[in-house]
Amino acid sequence: MLTRHNEGCHRIVLQPGPIPSRWVIPGVRQSRASVYTPPGHACTFVRIELAGSTRSQRSERPLMDREIRIRGEAKGDERAITRVTVAAFRTLQLRVGVERFDITEHRIILALRSADALVVSLVADMDGSVVGHVAFSRLTISAGTTDWYALGPLSVLPAQHRKGIGTALVREGLSRLKGMNARGCCVVGDPAYYTRFGFESLPELSSPGVPEEVLLATCWTAPAPRGEVTFHEAFEADAAL
Ligand SMILES: CC(C)(COP(=O)(O)OP(=O)(O)OC[C@H]1O[C@@H](n2cnc3c(N)ncnc32)[C@H](O)[C@@H]1OP(=O)(O)O)[C@@H](O)C(=O)NCCC(=O)NCCS
Repeated sequence: MLTRHNEGCHRIVLQPGPIPSRWVIPGVRQSRASVYTPPGHACTFVRIELAGSTRSQRSERPLMDREIRIRGEAKGDERAITRVTVAAFRTLQLRVGVERFDITEHRIILALRSADALVVSLVADMDGSVVGHVAFSRLTISAGTTDWYALGPLSVLPAQHRKGIGTALVREGLSRLKGMNARGCCVVGDPAYYTRFGFESLPELSSPGVPEEVLLATCWTAPAPRGEVTFHEAFEADAAL
């Protein structure tokens, strides 16, 4: 479960598993919470009772204004996944202030799919429309460690950013990998985003051409692997493909 502050509201993103009766909320020492979906509403609400007050205070906030389902990619999702990926990475392009660089991530997904290498491919489905996507594929480590996977590309439609959709996609993907007895997962990405999922920079791992500070890994079985990480060749997908 994550808590975050968004335009003055606490939003709480539920993770799979039992709902804890006591949650930690920034700025609030202790609280009790319950979750409910009012009849006739598509959204879930959280009722928070602040501890330590003489009268219990209640605040009720919608978690997400629309229902979002994380599900496996299905036949027919391909074009929507491309659309979401291009739109998402265009915002990244604008944010980093680079006027021209080719968006290749949708081509990586196409290449992974046609190589039958999309081990896990999840979409965030909002009322039947794809608003997010994450891909996982196998990678190799030079020392011979097996059962490691790569996360990416990860995309959320810009209009739906900061609603917990990226987080939900990553958490569900990692959980499915663990269910497949994966030993760990690597991502090339911003530590500010991926450390929240347990990713960290492992000094024993490297990948040609990848700055060490953005090569991140989460390791689920000891010992931690060492060696050179090679991603699926689809990651070399060229914009001209
Ligand atoms: C990265 C991305 C998938 C996150 O999706 P999302 O649904 O908005 O993410 P969540 O709502 O789960 O999390 C939002 C949080 O992540 C942070 N965040 C988003 N992108 C980030 C980045 N590149 N670096 C650091 N933090 C980032 C937001 O600031 C927000 O922080 P907060 O929790 O403190 O408010 C989405 O921003 C996106 O599609 N970006 C463009 C493509 C991209 O960068 N993909 C990842 C490449 S490795």
